[in-house]
Amino acid sequence: MILPPHLTVREGHLFIGGHDSVVLAEEFGTPLYVTDEERIRENYRSMYRALTDHYPGVQVLYAAKANGNLSVFRTLASLGAGADVFSSGELHLALLAGMKPENLLFNGNSKSPADLLLAVREGVKVSVDSMDELWQLNAIAAREERNLEIAFRVNPALEVPTHPKIATGLKTSKFGIPASQIHSAYREALSCNNLTPAGIHCHIGSQILEVEPFARAMAVMVDLMQDLTDMGVNLKFVDIGGGLGIPYRREIDIAPTPEEYAAAIMPVFLRGIRACGIEPALCVEPGRWLVGDSTVLLTRVNSVKRAHTAFANVDAGFNLLVRPAMYDSYHEVVVANRADALPERTYSIAGPICESGDLLAKERMLPLLEAGDLIAVLDAGAYGFAMSSQYNSRPRCAEVLLRGPDAAPMRRAETMEDIMRAMETPFWQ
Ligand code: LLP
Repeated sequence: MILPPHLTVREGHLFIGGHDSVVLAEEFGTPLYVTDEERIRENYRSMYRALTDHYPGVQVLYAAKANGNLSVFRTLASLGAGADVFSSGELHLALLAGMKPENLLFNGNSKSPADLLLAVREGVKVSVDSMDELWQLNAIAAREERNLEIAFRVNPALEVPTHPKIATGLKTSKFGIPASQIHSAYREALSCNNLTPAGIHCHIGSQILEVEPFARAMAVMVDLMQDLTDMGVNLKFVDIGGGLGIPYRREIDIAPTPEEYAAAIMPVFLRGIRACGIEPALCVEPGRWLVGDSTVLLTRVNSVKRAHTAFANVDAGFNLLVRPAMYDSYHEVVVANRADALPERTYSIAGPICESGDLLAKERMLPLLEAGDLIAVLDAGAYGFAMSSQYNSRPRCAEVLLRGPDAAPMRRAETMEDIMRAMETPFWQ
């Protein structure tokens, strides 16, 4: 099995960031998310370096939805990242982590009046997703006597090679404004007294393992850039979104490097801005690429069963990692307490949730398993805990952050009290 550099096997145990996963599981209990802070830093630096090698004016806006833990925000904030926020909650966390309002972009197809008001009050740029939203935002900014910079989210109508649920730039997608309506949208925005059109935004999808679709998206942006500049829009930022994939199946997947990504998009961008005679910031919104491989989910085998196949029943299910159930996603699994044992039998890793789709992994060749074994589910840092739930009234698990020799919780495990906290008793009961 191919492991990334921050995961190693020593005397049969899986180590993450130099920490023995077996010891972490004993100390903090299972299920447990474990994140290596240094890996996030390395990922950020390599993405930033690859892009700035072509153009200095790059801004990395971390896609906050991928992992919403405040400590992850803080790690990225300390490196200079801003954020793509998709809710008032993510906006609050980004500010709390020390990100500057001018380094945030409020995205989303369905922002509420309260979301828009928060963006206006905090002075956060908004990626506007409809004309209706534009008019609402302008009215709020006028009431607040503010002027706000905005972009429009363009729907580039591009097919991309990924799971249909996470392709976001299709013609039929709910996101963005069709390219055919973009010119009139900017014209309208230019006439809004309290808004300044200053950017252009798109996002074509997620977990894309080819760079060519990003180059095509950039070409769509560049075409618009020229027209918008001619129209009198002073473009200060061009945001190409996120979406660069990671190799969940390291034996098979060929994932582009950040250098390959940069080499695909940057020449198109640079030609475009030179032709227009402008120097906007280039924003990228990576989520998965920054945090995906930084984290493992540790889960304990409760029991094993021989049925039509062998099942290992573990203590984490789609309540904690929904990706396999939701997108048929593949996550590598390692028997963390016997990581050097030879594979002997095919197992499906079954969670404790009352649904037959609750399988974290299907039909994997693994060493013989028994109750008490520890399974590590790899690459769980993006859209892992972030998409967790309390389904079946299961309290969510803890998250631990590692930095060098230190390991500390960045979220405690929930208890039954946490599940009960928001429940009310109607007066007739
Ligand atoms: N920017 C925007 C506007 C987005 O909608 C997204 C992701 C990103 C950036 C970050 O994309 P990334 O670099 O992480 O691919 N839950 C799914 C992924 C949903 C992505 C939604 N939008 C999954 O687990 O695969």
